[in-house]
Amino acid sequence: MSRAAVLCGLGGSLPERIVSNEELAEQLDTSDRWIRTRTGIGQRHVVAPGQSTSDLAVAAGAQALASARATAGQADDGVDLVDPVDLVVLATSTPDRPCPATAPDVAHRLGLGPVPSFDVSAVCTGFVYALATAASMITAGIAGRALVIGADTFSTILDPADRTTRAIFGDGAGAVVLRAGDSGEPGALLGFDLGSDGSGADLITVRAGGSRQRSVPGPAAEGEEFFTMDGRPVFTRAVLDMSRSSQSLLERVGWSAAEVDKVVAHQANIRILNAVGEQLGLEEKQIVANLDRVGNTVAASIPLALRDAVAGGELQPGHRVLLTGFGGGLTWGSAALVWPELETGRPHR
Ligand code: ACO
Repeated sequence: MSRAAVLCGLGGSLPERIVSNEELAEQLDTSDRWIRTRTGIGQRHVVAPGQSTSDLAVAAGAQALASARATAGQADDGVDLVDPVDLVVLATSTPDRPCPATAPDVAHRLGLGPVPSFDVSAVCTGFVYALATAASMITAGIAGRALVIGADTFSTILDPADRTTRAIFGDGAGAVVLRAGDSGEPGALLGFDLGSDGSGADLITVRAGGSRQRSVPGPAAEGEEFFTMDGRPVFTRAVLDMSRSSQSLLERVGWSAAEVDKVVAHQANIRILNAVGEQLGLEEKQIVANLDRVGNTVAASIPLALRDAVAGGELQPGHRVLLTGFGGGLTWGSAALVWPELETGRPHR
């Protein structure tokens, strides 16, 4: 038994407004049929004007903190006997502003005091990277209790005329609380596999707004402020890298694919999830999917899928869970844990 980070709270938040496939088809040359058959997505949530990533992150973070308190046996408004959070890590690639990071504002608005807080930028793999970062700080003794949030509002960076990206992406935030515990406990993070390949940096990108574009005199070329993705090669790499990463972590943890109860993969496309399942030799019942209701919520994708799987009774205490993600960078990462007993409260939408 050794010191480990243990998952002890879970929350999520989606903006109120739902955009159906039919609504998109009224604005763009697409159809409910194309989007459903090519991606598995039926609808997505999008932020209202003026609403930002931090707003969703605060709501998800508050819910995860309430879940951690309830799991520890305390009422939401009861005397807080659990240790306070002493670290906030926010995974996002749509921060409220390019500078400073969004995490300190989120920590402040959650009333967490002067805790260390920072953003992690790994696009759709952001949550797994943030989880690994926070877990490592806990096992190293730098932190005792961490709030880890994945939040993104991709609707704010999409080209309104791009039928492909608008069909896929949705806004949202998901969060977990980690505490110091030991590796034998349910909820202990048992291992990680992380990787990147910058040769694919142009496949998923926002070209303008960074130092390279700004170091050139004159404004950005038209449209360069929008998110772009080269779907086909990204599809292939997503399947390959999530499968490879999952396999290498399973070997390290000592689980066979058949022994995994639930694989919670980044919710990019149902065809990607099925292809990863095929590569790993998984049955359909092992794969968690909520993308029909929320689309690809980027860094929020994995924690929102966890939240929905718990709320729907699909994910149960004692289940062996494999998390795996892939995203811009290119980046990928996987994590393994045995699902703990959790009080989650009512889902926030
Ligand atoms: N409605 C109708 N037609 C469309 C739409 C749409 N919404 N979007 C694209 N098409 C068209 C294309 O224009 C193309 O038409 P053409 O043949 O006349 O040129 C045709 O459909 C096929 O296009 P493809 O891009 O080849 O379609 P594909 O089946 O590959 O699906 C998709 C596209 C959904 C983007 C897919 O490639 C995909 O899921 N890629 C991976 C996305 C992913 O994994 N992202 C994760 C990381 S993202 C991140 O990190 C932020």
